[in-house]
Parts: sequence; structure tokens; C-alpha cells
Amino acid sequence: MCGIIGYSGHRPAVPLLLKGLKSLEYRGYDSAGVAYIQNKAMEVIRAEGKLSQLESKLDSCNVSIALSGIGHTRWATHGLPVEHNAHPHKDNSGHLAMVHNGIIENFQELREELLAKGHTFSSETDTEVLVNLIAEGRKDNGTLLDAFSWALGRVEGSFAVALTDLNEPGVIYAARQSSPLVLGVGVGENFVASDIPAFLAYTRDVVFLEDGEMVRIDANSWAVYNAATREAVDKKVDHITWDVQSAQKGGYKHFMLKEIFEQPRVIADCLTGRVNGSKEIMLPELEGLEPPKRLHIVACGTSFHAGLWGMHLMESWAKIPVSVEIASEFRYRDIIMDPGDAVLAISQSGETADTLAGLRMVKEQGVPVIGLCNVVGSSIARESDRVVYTQAGPEISVASTKAMCSQLTALTILALYWGLQKGTMAGQDVEQVLSGLSSLPQDLEKALPAIHETAKDLAREYSSARSFLYLGRGLYYPLALEGALKLKEISYIHAEGYAAGEMKHGPIALIDPEFPTFAMALNDGLFPKVQSNLVEVKARNGRVIALTHEGLPLEVDTSWVIPELIEPLNSFLALPALQLFAYETADYLGKDVDQPRNLAKSVTVE
Ligand code: F6R
Repeated sequence: MCGIIGYSGHRPAVPLLLKGLKSLEYRGYDSAGVAYIQNKAMEVIRAEGKLSQLESKLDSCNVSIALSGIGHTRWATHGLPVEHNAHPHKDNSGHLAMVHNGIIENFQELREELLAKGHTFSSETDTEVLVNLIAEGRKDNGTLLDAFSWALGRVEGSFAVALTDLNEPGVIYAARQSSPLVLGVGVGENFVASDIPAFLAYTRDVVFLEDGEMVRIDANSWAVYNAATREAVDKKVDHITWDVQSAQKGGYKHFMLKEIFEQPRVIADCLTGRVNGSKEIMLPELEGLEPPKRLHIVACGTSFHAGLWGMHLMESWAKIPVSVEIASEFRYRDIIMDPGDAVLAISQSGETADTLAGLRMVKEQGVPVIGLCNVVGSSIARESDRVVYTQAGPEISVASTKAMCSQLTALTILALYWGLQKGTMAGQDVEQVLSGLSSLPQDLEKALPAIHETAKDLAREYSSARSFLYLGRGLYYPLALEGALKLKEISYIHAEGYAAGEMKHGPIALIDPEFPTFAMALNDGLFPKVQSNLVEVKARNGRVIALTHEGLPLEVDTSWVIPELIEPLNSFLALPALQLFAYETADYLGKDVDQPRNLAKSVTVE
């Protein structure tokens, strides 16, 4: 996920682009850059690191008052977050410059085709391939608009791009396919950007672009075209009334809520390029690495819960013995590693001190480490022998939501990958899971609004509780732990997650009408066991919310029915229910949801 902006108008473009990028920095911040025309040359200034690095660099450049340009803030997908991979990228002639958000899936074959035609590349990015493809297309296709349309027709994947050309100063072209792009319509100036806050200080009139559309702007005009046919498309101009702060949150009250609702997209992004229609899983990151004989998963907090969940899949599909370890404990134990063992370090931020220390400890023993990280180029990603990125995009809310969803998706892919390699999965199971995964983003998208409504009602009903017990078994035990963690960290209501079968070994003493239980009672093989645990709670006058599926016999205070998919994919619907219940409770109680007290997004201390 990256942020892009393009401007043409009457103001000095570079400061305006920087200001716009500042508001897009939530979309990525590992490098940034701008392109503008000065002294009849295409100037591209880029810097590794946060936007402030680019600002310092621009301070020392003699930037003229260019009145148009494009800008980018990057969240790396192809290639390390270093300056030569930062955007904008130029074509070989140096006439075109482009910024891009998204992933071009067939970039490798296009790159080879262009290499054969004599193009050269100075980065590892898919973007540099696209801008050269457009230049190649211009040789045969006349205008830049024609060449742009031709090249877009050849790429597969998702993109929002903005393009500027030395031959047409003051004109910006842009297009979108499965990545956000909006057009801002001003007076004597026009904008394109990944998100409205990038230009909200200058205009509130916007045109929402659809997939398959491209746009041409200059200072005094704008036009939208069908990217395939190049026919003009009639568009409506909408007037925005939000303030900048809420617009950054895409109209959601908090980043946490926005991120919960982004989960269908997160699953789709994590699957892209890894799972296709056939019975094949592509994880080039792990090529040449044998499936481990034994896997040690090391992580903290929410990532640890994801690891516990993944253990079930690794064991039943890939028949790999797994231990899941809290990193702060693991790093001080005398862990016995055998030949063939591997460590999977799970970390959203890739910077968690305990996980990093555990990784370094086993690396010293020569044990191969696979990192499962969200942040590209983070310490754990760099120090692992191999890294699988979860591709959730930057997570801003301190409480982790969509990152966990992406970790569950990646763990599902990993277990399938090893299961297929070892031949331990029945073909029928593979087919069923693959087909379930392909419709999972849509299934979740459809289910989320109703889950949210129920979460709101229940949050109001139960918000006076001082303490909560979360119960689950099997795959739902890690989710019970996660539900309790979410509730305590943002609403400050005490909550404990427990394996439902352990309840009678102690916690049952706590049950009374003031101590509600949140039970994961979904339709898996362990449902009858959970059902009898809940009878024990009810017999002690405990109030029970049960997250469940249609038609399951339960005598509880609230049956919260969610749509049923196949196992283990039901977890992807259960997780947002837990997140939304915690979110709505915290919001109802007036807590600072996105920045709860005492917590930090990235725990870089022991
Ligand atoms: C909870 C939460 C934390 C993190 C933990 C590990 O919402 O965010 O429990 O999961 O601090 O962080 P990462 O995954 O960055 O290593």
C-alpha cells in the first residue's frame, strides 16, 4: 500500500505535493519522492525513510516554481525500501515519470519482454516496468493517452498510477484498477490522489473514479475515459463535507474501525499471487527450503495468538509438529533444537524486541528462521533467512486487527504449501479450502455490517461488566485469547481467555451473574464439548454470549449467530465479531480507542 498524488494548477507544486503526501503517510512511509518539470528536464527527487528525509533533501535542491507534478509515499512490495526503489520512476528516455500504488502480477514477464527490446532497469520495482511499457507503447500507439491505455491493457494486478510527461508540461494522467484513486476538482487547478485528505485543503469537489477508468488533468480541465476503449465517461462531481481528520479515516470514527472493515481487502491482498484457481500455492520466498521436521513459532501478543491458531493447521494439514512460544519466555529458555527444525517468527511490526531476540538466539545455533511480517524492511524481516510478507498495509490503530487477519491468511497459505509439498493433504480437502479462500473476501464483506450491528447492541448491554471470561476450544481457543486481549486493551475491562475445558479446573469459581462469559460455540467437531461447558456456566447463574452458527442447540442469554463457512475459514468471520465487540464497548465507554493508555504500536524494548 502506498500513497500517490498528482497536481496541476497555479500554485507551486512541490510544497503542495509534500503537504498532500504528509496526509497520505499512513499508507506507507519507507521512502518518498516527487517528480516535476524544471528547465525543460524531468526532475525526480527521492529519499529513503520518512517524508521528512525527502523534505530535507528538497531543501537543498533548487526547486523552481513548477506548477504541476506527482508524488509518492511508499510501502514497499517489490524491492527493498531503498532510494533506487523509491518512486517516481522514469522510463529509459527520461521523458516519463510515474508513481504507483499496487502490485503488477505479471511484471516479471513484461520485464523480460522489455529487456529483450533493449530497455534497462535501475530498480527492482514493477513500476519501472510499467512506465517503460508505456514508453514502448508510445512508439506504435501515437498519443500518450493511447499508449497508456494500451499498456494498462497488458498488465495484470492492482494499481493506481499517476504519470507525467516532459512533452506535455502541466498535464497529469492517472488510472485505477483495484487500488484507490480520486480526482479533486478545483478552480484553475486539479488533483488526483489515493485519498481525499491529500487535497482537501484546496477543494471539496471530488470525482470518485472506478476500476478500469483513466483520467487526464491539467490546470483548467479534467476528463475521465474508459481505460480500455478510450471513450469519454460522464462523471458526477460530489461535494465532501467531512473534516480532514475524519477523511483520513475514510469516514470511519476510528482507525481501528476502518482497519476492521478493511479485512476483506487484506485477505484478498495476502492471497494475490500466492493462490490461484489450480491446486497450487506459490510462495517463491520459500523456494528451495524443505518443509521443517519441527516448527517453533515465536511471537508476542496478538501475533502469538495467530501462531497458536496456525499450529492447528500445520499439524493437521502438513503433519508438522509445532510448538508455539511467547518470545519473552522463549529467549531465556534452553531450547533444544534438532536438525531439520525451523523457527517461524511472527510480528506485524517486525520490530518487537523479544521476538527479535528469540530470532537472534536461534540463528546463532544455525536454525533457519522464517519471518512472517507486515512491515517491509523491518528488523525481523531483514534478519530472518526468509520472509513472507502478510501485506496488510500499515496498521495505525494500536490494537492490532487487520494484521492478525493477514497473519491467519498467511498461515493458512503456509500450511497448505507445506501440506501439498509433503503430500499429507487429501486432494478433496485442498480443493475445498482453495475454493473457500477464493470467496472468503466477499463472504466477509457481506457479513461485516450485520456483525457490526449486533456488536453495537451487545456492547451497550454488557458494558457495565467489570470482568469477562472468554472461552473456546481448538481453533477457537486462540481466538478466545484474542477476544479477551482486545477487550482489555481498549476498554480496560478485565478479561481472561481460557480453554473451555480448563474452566472447571479453577475459573468456574468466579462465575456469578456479574461475571459474563463470551463463548466461542461454533459448528466444529468440538461444539458438543463447548455446549456442555456452557451448561456448567448457566448452572451457576452466569450470563453467556455465545458466538455461534445457525441451528446449534444452546441455552444461553444471547446467541450471536454468524454465517457459516467451511472450517477453518469460519475463524475469519469470528475474529471481526470479537474485534467489533471490543471496539463498540470501548467506544461506548468513551475510551481513546486508537491510542489506548500505556500501549505502543511497536514494542522495541524488552
Ligand atoms: C495487541 C497488539 C500486541 C502486538 C504485540 C506484538 O493488539 O497489537 O499484542 O500483537 O505487541 O507485536 P508485533 O506483531 O508487531 O510483533
